[in-house]
Amino acid sequence: MSSPRWLRRAGAPRLEFGADYNPDQWPRAVWDSDVRHMREAGVTIVSLAIFSWAKLEPAPGEYDFAWLDDAMDLLHANGISVDLATATASPPPWLTAAHPEILPVDRLGHIIWPGGRQQWRPTSPIFREHALRLVEAMATRYASHPALVAWHVSNELGCHNVYDYSDDAARAFREWLRDRYVTLDELNDAWGTAFWAQRYTAWDEVIPPRLAATHPNPGQQLDFKRFSSDALKDYLRAERAVLRSLTPEVPVTTNFMVMGETKGMDYADWATEVDFVSNDHYRLPGPQSLDELSFSANLTGNLAGGQPWFLMEHSTSAVNWQPVNKAKKAGELARDSLTHVAHGADAVCFFQWRQSKAGAEKYHSAMLPHAGADSDLFRSVAALGAQLASLADLAGTPRTRARAAIVFDWTSWWASELDSHPTDRLRYRQEALDWYTAFLNLGVRVDVVPPSAPLEEYDVLIAPILHVVPAELAKRLDAYVTAGGHLVTTYFSGIVDERDHVWLGGYPGALRDLLGIRIEEFAPLLDDETATLSNGTTGSLWTDRIDLADESVEVLAAYETGELAGHAAVTRRPVGDGSAAYVSTRLGPDGLAPVLGTLLERAGVGSELPSDLRGRVELAQRGDFRFVLNRTDEPIDITELGAAEPTLAARGVAVIRA
Ligand code: GAL
Repeated sequence: MSSPRWLRRAGAPRLEFGADYNPDQWPRAVWDSDVRHMREAGVTIVSLAIFSWAKLEPAPGEYDFAWLDDAMDLLHANGISVDLATATASPPPWLTAAHPEILPVDRLGHIIWPGGRQQWRPTSPIFREHALRLVEAMATRYASHPALVAWHVSNELGCHNVYDYSDDAARAFREWLRDRYVTLDELNDAWGTAFWAQRYTAWDEVIPPRLAATHPNPGQQLDFKRFSSDALKDYLRAERAVLRSLTPEVPVTTNFMVMGETKGMDYADWATEVDFVSNDHYRLPGPQSLDELSFSANLTGNLAGGQPWFLMEHSTSAVNWQPVNKAKKAGELARDSLTHVAHGADAVCFFQWRQSKAGAEKYHSAMLPHAGADSDLFRSVAALGAQLASLADLAGTPRTRARAAIVFDWTSWWASELDSHPTDRLRYRQEALDWYTAFLNLGVRVDVVPPSAPLEEYDVLIAPILHVVPAELAKRLDAYVTAGGHLVTTYFSGIVDERDHVWLGGYPGALRDLLGIRIEEFAPLLDDETATLSNGTTGSLWTDRIDLADESVEVLAAYETGELAGHAAVTRRPVGDGSAAYVSTRLGPDGLAPVLGTLLERAGVGSELPSDLRGRVELAQRGDFRFVLNRTDEPIDITELGAAEPTLAARGVAVIRA
């Protein structure tokens, strides 16, 4: 990817720092203290007007920009830039009352009513007409405002409305299918409609996968996922087209949600649609919380092609949308932020500036909490602002590529978790994250990349649950290994093509010859079953009865118990200077570490950390800047790394400049 178009602003490069700012929730008198505190905290940028449609357009076609003019002017006068939202994220009640046909419909046919937010159909022509009219008004009004440095399209597109089963969606789905398949015969073939008398004889018979008597057609389901991601991408493009025509010099972004189980939007496909990539990330509880944060930041950085990206939202402390919302511990605010920076973020922003006193998010943390500026939280925020200012030299520095990569593929995520599979327990992202944790524990840097990345440049590629392998990808992986690359893949990989049709002749279909193994039947495990391996690790979820199909294949670990005793569990086929390895069970981070260690050693990829630091700190690199992130709650001696301070505080971060 070429360099992104970054914020339109003059002056030396810097790391941006700020938040969503919602002055429309507060009386005017509060705004002056807002900007004063923003300056104290080192805020450089805010995202404005994200949920302001109802205030900006109180009646159809009637605009009230006075308050926003005032806010823009005030921010500018205080040296704060604005990433201005198009304000279309949530339609006002007058619009949904006049046009209830813009409301999304779930798979059971229930209407998603107003009362929350984002209650609009991605494919509604009426919604689009109203939204684009507002975008046009916003762009016209603020085109030359000196505070405007970027456009923020909508907000978290697809957060609540990615899957809409309405009649609008049905119409648009049919058009999308016609584009993809051209003829009904092709569609019938792709969806395997010979099964269960599903053959279509007219396009109008095709519908989204609404509630069905039993498992809806998997081809229909997979295409509906592709379509739904594309429908929102199309909407993004429509707003972008208006913005580009009126303000061609202002870069356009929209905040992705590369985090947790948010999987409806194929961000690898969206990344080239924006002038710079932005992401929102919230920590999830659990033992891999910190690893998941790093994983998401890493993937976001690689979606941005290694170039700097914009952390649009994360939280200073607790969120409000989990069953129990824990405050962050001392040090976590800065460590979380700097983890994103370590993986390429040139902007650190939060939801939101001032904690709301009313509404659904009043207990969500912010930069300026209910307690006010005289608070530990605000002091930590200001300290972070100062730290980011001191790192201004880092701005613009791309991520430094690792030698190993984990391939992350949205299509495989979608397809591997469809119903009517050998198990419904499989979790695609969890398997990828387990490998990531194993890398962290071994102290080896790794990139998380989409299949469109330059895979050839990595010495080691881990492709967990690479379920969908079109013929072209199979060829590419073959060529990668033949050229000396080391490929590692896992259970349920190489099984189907892009139409979700099984590659015949034995599993893992498309990768069978490359791996030199053959599997006749899957052997998933029940929840209370495990499999003991000869290397002392324990598998769960899945096993395979592997037959070795090539005499060069080495067995790195075998099953020791049960039906599969004596059969290979982990294999590796040397191919010239390269190799192709297979892990047939879920080992989890602890079990993967020794297996990964062996595979990396064979590939000649080692840790850049002294052995006593491996697993305790995370190492990340951006050009001359090395980030050392303390993953533990204890201080760590990092003298060996040549840091200015020999002790890395509990949850601390050191940035070492070469
Ligand atoms: C995001 C959203 C913000 C806010 C935040 C709370 O999904 O964009 O507006 O709701 O979550 O964590």
